[in-house]
Amino acid sequence: MSNTIKEKEGPIEQFYDAMEVGLTTLSDNAAERMQARARRFMETIVDYKELMMMYTCAMKEIQTKFEILNTEFSVRYRRNPIASITTRLKTTASITEKLARYNCSLSVENIEKYIHDVGGVRVICSYIDDIYLIADALLAQDDITLLRRKDYIANPKPNGYRSLHLIVTVPVFFADRKLDMKVEVQIRTIAMDFWASLEHQMKYKQEIPAQDEIAEELRLCAETIRQTDERMLDIRKKIEAAADAEDEDDLLLEKLSRIDIGI
Ligand code: GTP
Ligand code: MG
Repeated sequence: MSNTIKEKEGPIEQFYDAMEVGLTTLSDNAAERMQARARRFMETIVDYKELMMMYTCAMKEIQTKFEILNTEFSVRYRRNPIASITTRLKTTASITEKLARYNCSLSVENIEKYIHDVGGVRVICSYIDDIYLIADALLAQDDITLLRRKDYIANPKPNGYRSLHLIVTVPVFFADRKLDMKVEVQIRTIAMDFWASLEHQMKYKQEIPAQDEIAEELRLCAETIRQTDERMLDIRKKIEAAADAEDEDDLLLEKLSRIDIGI
């Protein structure tokens, strides 16, 4: 065994090299205990990374479901209800902070049990009715289980926040097992998302002068956005009503061209 740690090795190899160097100075019993602790530590990291991989797969399943719905609706309704879909895996720092806030120790079991938003999927729609359209279509799928639904559109938060939140489970098929994984889905309009990202920025900046005034201004903006969302929907419905009066052959031709685009 060499007493020098090779610089070109990765952090894990360096850790084991350092362990070996250190262990030579310990009694046999103490060395064994340290080795066992190091092994448990590495096992926990492997379990944690595996869990994160599983949440990533669950987000992909949900994202694909929304993409399929969007493709289908683009033909059925002749427009795309979904403007964009993003996914995010909760950071280790945020997981640690949340478990501490819940007075729970940091373990893989507690992450699975108590944190519902390790995997997050955000769906941005153009119009309010699309939010409910695609949420209902997702929840109607027989492999999706709804755990929690919060409608901050019907009941906005006092600060003005609006969005539809769903916590669902989706089965994910791995090589040797099938697991139901939790995913948090947030569905909102482009305007609601615009508002939420600005409000989020304010929340995480501690040193903003006149914070109360800004909060009040944001509340007013939220109200303007609600009205604008509703007016945009009204206008779209009027345009659609006019289009519905179109010749049936024209509609069929348009549908045909959209199916080509969809494929
Ligand atoms: P968290 O502990 O933050 O996850 O909240 P929760 O478990 O009570 O769930 P809730 O459905 O209220 O919020 C979940 C997520 O929605 C948050 O993590 C944010 O991403 C978003 N959210 C909720 N409230 C607000 C808000 O007031 N402003 C903004 N910008 N985002 C919010
Ligand atoms: Mg959250």
